[in-house]
Amino acid sequence: MKTISTKVAIVGAGPSGLLLGQLLHKHGIDNVIVERVSADYVLGRIRAGILEQGLVKLLEEAGVSARMHREGIPHDGFCISHSERLERIDVKSLTGGESVMCYGQTEVTRDLMAARSEAGLTTLYESSEVSIVDICSESPAVLCRHEGQPVRIECDFVAGCDGFHGVSRQTIPEEKRTEHERVYPFGWLGVLSDTPPVHDELIYAKSERGFALASQRSPTRSRYYIQVPLTDSVDQWSDEAFWAELKRRLPSDISAKLVTGPSIEKSIAPLRSFVCEPMQYGRLHLVGDAAHIVPPTGAKGLNLAASDVSTLYKLLLKAYRAGDFNVMSRYSEICLRRVWNGERFSWWMTNMLHDFGDESVGGMDGASMARFMESELNYYLDSPAGRAVIAEQYVGLPYEQID
Ligand code: APR
Ligand code: PHB
Repeated sequence: MKTISTKVAIVGAGPSGLLLGQLLHKHGIDNVIVERVSADYVLGRIRAGILEQGLVKLLEEAGVSARMHREGIPHDGFCISHSERLERIDVKSLTGGESVMCYGQTEVTRDLMAARSEAGLTTLYESSEVSIVDICSESPAVLCRHEGQPVRIECDFVAGCDGFHGVSRQTIPEEKRTEHERVYPFGWLGVLSDTPPVHDELIYAKSERGFALASQRSPTRSRYYIQVPLTDSVDQWSDEAFWAELKRRLPSDISAKLVTGPSIEKSIAPLRSFVCEPMQYGRLHLVGDAAHIVPPTGAKGLNLAASDVSTLYKLLLKAYRAGDFNVMSRYSEICLRRVWNGERFSWWMTNMLHDFGDESVGGMDGASMARFMESELNYYLDSPAGRAVIAEQYVGLPYEQID
């Protein structure tokens, strides 16, 4: 058995694990990452691409923001359409000067991987049989098999950054955690294409045929989504069928400008709201998707992961500087306040913009619920205060100060 000693063992090399590792390294806190798949596999996942200022600042702090500032596109607003009505939410003026950064999560991950390998930090890719042991003791460990050899990583703390399907959350005994979950009755069919975006800002579109989103990655690469039944499969959707359906859901003057082309990626993602409470147990701290999932309406997934990372790394710095680990007990409570806000916003946007068909919600039939949600959207769009509420949440609430 090979034994490695470190301060923080990080399970998972997604954006959460890599960003935490980089920030800790910047402050001299040694860490090792264990990842189940290869770096290329991690980079093959296509995810959202709207970064809040909090995450932008965190990437600057980690020293990995140069390419994002060069290639990312700041967005001062976004649009919500309702059939033929197109409304711009002027985020910048409504929030007193804030904006979001349009830069793909895959690119954030790529930049973090490059920084990690340049710094010569250990990442055990393609590890199997990953488990976390002795988590309630002062010397926990992560066990795995890497390059055919059993490995034991001894540490002070374990950061569970291994996503929704990882081992970390399962390591917390069932009776010590509460899970809140809502699985939505539809998915998002997403297409990536090398075509110019249909609009200079994102359009979240509510229509009689269901929701659609016009997003982008660069001036020459677009990302579009349409709401589809959970029973649909990707093979049922030719590129032509996708483009035709997208056009029907966007306002007609926007659809008229849509440039179509072959898809370079096409996939269906289910929508889920999920929170695990608490987000810590013994020396294990859950970060990002391991602890919570939001539906993508509102682009909060990566941003909530980033605020967890910020809280965890600041508490760890404080703990190591003071030589007192008691401060770590605040982690879950601090994270959950912001997580629940993001969950509520994503859930609310999802309810307002999607077609729930006949599904009854809270004892109300689907048709009545649809009328309520239509009124909700009209109210918020027609009210300056309502638009400000949407804008403030879209740019993200400030991170809590860790004193
Ligand atoms: N052992 C080691 N690594 C694991 C294990 C395991 N048992 N199980 C999963 N992993 C790895 C996955 O292969 C993945 O690379 O953990 C990583 C988790 O990464 P993500 O799922 O991207 O989660 P996170 O880093 O928290 O990122 C949050 O990603 O899912 C989106 O919307 C979400 O944008 C948000 C962001
Ligand atoms: C994306 O570009 O993939 C994207 C953008 C905004 C969202 C969801 C996804 O709300």
